[in-house]
Amino acid sequence: MNWQPRLLVTRHLPPSVERHLRTHFDACINPQDVSLNHAQLARAMTSYEAICPTITDNFDAALFSTTGARVRILANFGAGVDHIDLAAAERAGIVVTNTPDAVTDATAELAILLMLMAARRAGEGERELRDGRWTGWRPTHLMGQGLAGKTLGLVGFGRIAQATAARASAFQMRIRYFSRHRARAATEMALAATPAPSLEALAEEADILSLHVPGGTETDQLVDAWLIARMKSTAILINTARGSVVDEGALAAALRTGQIAAAGLDVYGQEPKVNPALLASPNLVLLPHLGSATIEARTAMGMQAAANLEAFFAGQEPPNRVV
Ligand code: 8YV
Repeated sequence: MNWQPRLLVTRHLPPSVERHLRTHFDACINPQDVSLNHAQLARAMTSYEAICPTITDNFDAALFSTTGARVRILANFGAGVDHIDLAAAERAGIVVTNTPDAVTDATAELAILLMLMAARRAGEGERELRDGRWTGWRPTHLMGQGLAGKTLGLVGFGRIAQATAARASAFQMRIRYFSRHRARAATEMALAATPAPSLEALAEEADILSLHVPGGTETDQLVDAWLIARMKSTAILINTARGSVVDEGALAAALRTGQIAAAGLDVYGQEPKVNPALLASPNLVLLPHLGSATIEARTAMGMQAAANLEAFFAGQEPPNRVV
């Protein structure tokens, strides 16, 4: 039998992906399915040629200087790579890949779900009903806001933001975006999306402000008290990107004082811990990082990670190389 690279898969993946990986690699799939600590990851660096990590594995600079490391590639299961010190990986000559296309549809769908839930107060309604507090229909009961005719402000305009824009158009929303790079004219035209001159201008204009930037130092606390204060009192903030992008204390305060109307979050600064101030906000929809949690997306993510590994060990350039 041909030599197969030793691969550590740090969490359970959909069964079809695990079967595929076991066929193509000498694969160890973490049987406990809990995140690995620093010492376990350091051991893995010396025992495997490849690791398929997830967001719950923190690859800091120290890991990349592990003595006797034999890992050559981290094929991340996920698009975001802010849990990996990319500069340290590059210095160590370790390739990092991600799965950008596979998460797009599912995450865009979840952004729309949060918009609808927050705008229509679905979380509040369900809690009221389950708690036995629903007293019956009345014309002014839990009135929310409609999406039709509203302005969606997209912060970042990559794949997920564009897929969100396409879906929001079906709800007759007007699409504005702010991004470091202006999109191609054809993209703007196809999505009827126009750029805002600044993040501040977008925050002032948006009825729903939806975040689609990567995590990491460049976007840390991008949405802070100052930016939130620019938003309309009727506005809704949606975050399916990374918790680090939002000052959670400032958001909780803005929701409490009515500075903005509502918010929907799928991601948090200290996952799985959630800031208690957020938990106390009724006008806030909270989901446990479900952005890509569909069987379709999670299977595609696994197969995209596998394709990156297979290309790498065949001596080719992996299709989704980050460094
Ligand atoms: C993933 C995500 O589930 O792809 C991403 O960046 O945020 C999630 O959808 C997670 O990162 C898996 O590692």
